[in-house]
Amino acid sequence: MNLNLSNFNENTKIIKGHDNISEVKEELAVNGKEITGPPKIRIDNVKKIFKTKNNKTSKIEDFIALNDVNLDIYKGEFLVVLGPSGCGKSTLLDILGGLSPASEGEVKIDDNVITEPGLDRGIVFQQYALLPWRNALKNVTFPLENNKKDAESEEIARKYLALVGLSSFEDRYPHELSGGMKQRVAIARALAIDPEILLMDEPFAAVDAQTRAILQEDLLKITENTKKTVIFITHSIDEAVFLADRVAVMTARPGTIKEIVNIPFSRHHRIATDFKNNSDFISLRRRVWDLLKEEVIKSQEITEKRIKFEENENIDGGGI
Ligand SMILES: Nc1ncnc2c1ncn2[C@@H]1O[C@H](COP(=O)(O)OP(=O)(O)O)[C@@H](O)[C@H]1O
Ligand SMILES: [Mg+2]
Repeated sequence: MNLNLSNFNENTKIIKGHDNISEVKEELAVNGKEITGPPKIRIDNVKKIFKTKNNKTSKIEDFIALNDVNLDIYKGEFLVVLGPSGCGKSTLLDILGGLSPASEGEVKIDDNVITEPGLDRGIVFQQYALLPWRNALKNVTFPLENNKKDAESEEIARKYLALVGLSSFEDRYPHELSGGMKQRVAIARALAIDPEILLMDEPFAAVDAQTRAILQEDLLKITENTKKTVIFITHSIDEAVFLADRVAVMTARPGTIKEIVNIPFSRHHRIATDFKNNSDFISLRRRVWDLLKEEVIKSQEITEKRIKFEENENIDGGGI
């Protein structure tokens, strides 16, 4: 399918807040995704306030990181959250992971409110977070050890190390692995508990560009074959448009969902064709950049204002 910018606008619907399910059904059908039920994950009016101490006045102030975040994610979907640095992406992922509570609102998985981490969610962070004293195999067995015997844990770990292409590296320790390999081990570890949902926070940000491109392709194949629902966070537009079934673009802090852009191509198409070099990709990238650009500028202004505020004792303020 070849899409120029004029018919691209017709084919790409943008939805705010909660989705109209039948519209999303139509959209995701184009990506080869069949939606059969209600959203797997529902983020409802989520707000996150951090209490921070003002160094000048010693007063505790509210720092609003997220405001009124509404988002539905469907079973089997690969949803990318894209936003400028500091807009609250990791804060949102921590809430989804049950690592930190929302100040207001709630997140539901299959209609159950998240209150803590669970085996239904595997998390991959930007920093590899591997245990340095354990080899690759034993890093992957780690989350299984409470519930399974050693031999069974190792069999499962080997299966997932094979899936990420690291069968012959199971004895290697983290310091003996490249950045890309470490992140493959982290992905194998997240998959080993066989979670329905994979939460990924800029997992490829620290690896070189060539390795990143290969990891992206492999991740698309693995998540398609294992039928995971994925929420993947990034600040890279190219990564978002390549990986996503839908891209949720966030505003500058306090972060909220600005718009959702459908990427109307199947994962197979994205992998099998030279998608990143074709005109459809370039049109979509431009569309997403148009949405993100003003948020990046705003985000820089907020940071500059904050630095000035902290440098200047006489300015009375707050809520910056
Ligand atoms: N524990 C915390 N206490 C106070 N402020 C925090 C805390 N965690 C994050 N923040 C602030 O919240 C904002 C959003 O952070 P984060 O979610 O890490 O952004 P992103 O992942 O989009 O770069 C940032 O301004 C950050 O400094
Ligand atoms: Mg972050």
